[in-house]
Amino acid sequence: MQQAELVITDIGQLVTCAANGRGPKRGAEMREVNLIENASVAISDGIFTAVGPHQEILDEFVGERTFSAEGRAACPGFVDPHTHIVYAGDRLDEFVLKLQGAEYLDILSAGGGILSTVKKSREASVDLLVDESLARLNKMFKAGTTTIEIKTGYGLDTKAELKMLQVIERLDVIHEADIVPTFLAAHTIAPEFRNDPEAYVSLICEEMLPAAWNWYLGSHFYQKSTPFFCDVFTERNAFDVEQMGRIFATAGSLGFRLKSHVDQFSNLGGSEASIRSHAASIDHLDAISEREVGILAESDTIGVVIPTENFSAGKVEFAPARRLIDKGCAVALSTDFNPGSAPCPSMPMAMAIASRYQRLLPSEALNAATINAAHSVGLGDRFGSIEVGKAADMLILDCVDHRQIVYEFGGNLVLHVIKRGKFTSNG
Ligand code: NIG
Ligand code: FE
Repeated sequence: MQQAELVITDIGQLVTCAANGRGPKRGAEMREVNLIENASVAISDGIFTAVGPHQEILDEFVGERTFSAEGRAACPGFVDPHTHIVYAGDRLDEFVLKLQGAEYLDILSAGGGILSTVKKSREASVDLLVDESLARLNKMFKAGTTTIEIKTGYGLDTKAELKMLQVIERLDVIHEADIVPTFLAAHTIAPEFRNDPEAYVSLICEEMLPAAWNWYLGSHFYQKSTPFFCDVFTERNAFDVEQMGRIFATAGSLGFRLKSHVDQFSNLGGSEASIRSHAASIDHLDAISEREVGILAESDTIGVVIPTENFSAGKVEFAPARRLIDKGCAVALSTDFNPGSAPCPSMPMAMAIASRYQRLLPSEALNAATINAAHSVGLGDRFGSIEVGKAADMLILDCVDHRQIVYEFGGNLVLHVIKRGKFTSNG
């Protein structure tokens, strides 16, 4: 008999999303969630030490503590690979303007949108930003998100961007969720450089990226071997493909991993350029071309789709996620939680919209929200599936069939969040 700190028994349906070391799931593999009926898991030191049929685990392991899931379904903790939750204030007035017909990019070019959040976030102290972001993080955690990528991008000058990094680090230290930091000084052109975007790109390359990398080397993230990403918003009124290329070249040579916001509104060629730069993910993809879908399918880059953005904007068109999967791409899902385009903390909500409007099956939506999302932030070997050796991040659901996560929407089916073996109950 082996000893385990915790044995969770009587899991009626354990959806492991195991990839068996094969990397992200692509194409038809995304339908496979590796389900075990009547399962148990053993956990020690925050890691799964055994996963399998109930009786097999009980024959082999004795737990210092045991917990019965009473026949409920369980799945991996969700990984949200694209968020902007560190900001001050809200954009409620802008939301009402959009309901009355105002366009997102027009609000931005008139100095609102992202820039209005930049103004408030620059003025905010670290403590205030931590308080406001922590409240968002708690909502996400309750909805089952146990690993979260967080971007800077509301500072847009060296000092304020570093302040955002400090907040992101503080959140990782004080919150149970694991956080992945992304440097997004290239979120939009800083207001001071409105008439000289090239000078802002130079500032990013010559001053901001080196300062951010230097911060990372002294940070808690570097010690934990969490990767550090650089992101660029390639869009009209933001950065063109050439500018993205300059930023990526500098970031890549410093050691950043790359990801990009591309094809959200217009196709500027950002998807192809990002894939050629070996970006870990390309995100949004509403306007991706058929040719680029083919290039993505042949690459190691993951396509992150964000249907919460479309839902929030009341759009009827969505990124062609069904097409991406059918062509053999690896697809992940995110909330994009941010004050402008997607004020949504819930991965189950993103999954529900993806199934209805992008025609993802419940199994595809679950893989997209777990194992593939983990790979898109460079952590597929540690998170995103219930497998021996991985972080013991698991959700016990208030249902017996995982498809209910996608079928039922608007509530919260997550009864217990287990993060690195530690329980938090919603019930
Ligand atoms: O992913 N597109 C740019 N960035 C965010 C929106 C941020 C904001 O509006 O504050 C996005 O949609
Ligand atoms: Fe975003």
